[in-house]
Amino acid sequence: MRKPIVGGNWKMNRGIPVETKEMLKKLIPLVKKITAVDIIIAPPFTALISAVDIVKKSNIKIGAQNMYFEEKGAFTGEVSPNFLKAIGVEYVILGHCERRNIFKESDELVNKKLKKALSRNLNPIACIGEHLEEREAGKTKEIIQNQIDKTFKDLTKEEMIKTVIAYEPIWAIGTGKTATPEQAEEIHIFIREMVASKYDKATADLVRIQYGGSIKPTNANELFEKENIDGGLVGGASLQADSLFEIVKAADETTK
Ligand code: PGA
Repeated sequence: MRKPIVGGNWKMNRGIPVETKEMLKKLIPLVKKITAVDIIIAPPFTALISAVDIVKKSNIKIGAQNMYFEEKGAFTGEVSPNFLKAIGVEYVILGHCERRNIFKESDELVNKKLKKALSRNLNPIACIGEHLEEREAGKTKEIIQNQIDKTFKDLTKEEMIKTVIAYEPIWAIGTGKTATPEQAEEIHIFIREMVASKYDKATADLVRIQYGGSIKPTNANELFEKENIDGGLVGGASLQADSLFEIVKAADETTK
C-alpha cells in the first residue's frame, strides 16, 4: 500500500559535479527497471544542478540536504526553498541528526523548515532519532514522542501524509551498528501509532517511515521486510552505485 522510498544522503562526501555525474551515470541504467520504489539522491548544494540535469529522463529524483525556512533576504549562507524548486529539486532532507547535533538545529526550527518546504511543494524527508545514552536509559519512546510532537506540530493531515519520516537512531549512523530489524520495527510501529493518535489510522497507514543508520546491501533485506519499514535513508552505502542498487533492489523485492 505504501511505496517504499530509498534515499541516498551523500552528506559532504561527493559534491563536485563531475564525480556526481560519474556516479549517477552508473546508477541510472542499474535502476532503470525499478518502478515500485521511489529513488532519491541528495548531493550537496554544489552538485544539485548537475544531478538534476543528469537524472532528467530517469526514475531518480533529486533532493537537497537542507534549506532555510525563509524564501528570500539577508540570511548569509542559507538556501531558499524557491531556489531549490527553481532548479528542479523535488525532495529535501530536514532535521538530519548531523544538522541537529553539529549545527544545533532544534525541533522548532525543523518544524518551520518542514512547513515551508510543504508550502513550496517540496517533499520533505524529516529525520528523528535517539542518542545511545537515551536508548540505554530506556528513554527512546519518550524522546521520539517529544520529537514528533514538536517537529510535526500543526501539520495538516495532507501535509503529514506528504512528509516522509526517517527514523534514524543516532547511535547507528555512520557507526556500522545497525538497529536490528526488531528494534527498528518496534519504533516504526510506535511512530505510526503516534501519527494515528494525532490524526487517524488512515493517515498513519499512508505515512512512509524510512529507517536510517548503517544500511548496507547485507542488511537491507531483513530491515525492509518488516511491515512498517518503508525503505531507508542511506549514507555511506549510497556513495557507490552498485551498493545503492542492491539496497534499492531489496526495497523492490518487498513489493512483490
Ligand atoms: P549511514 O548514514 O548509512 O552512513 O549510517 C545514514 C544517514 O545519516 O542518513
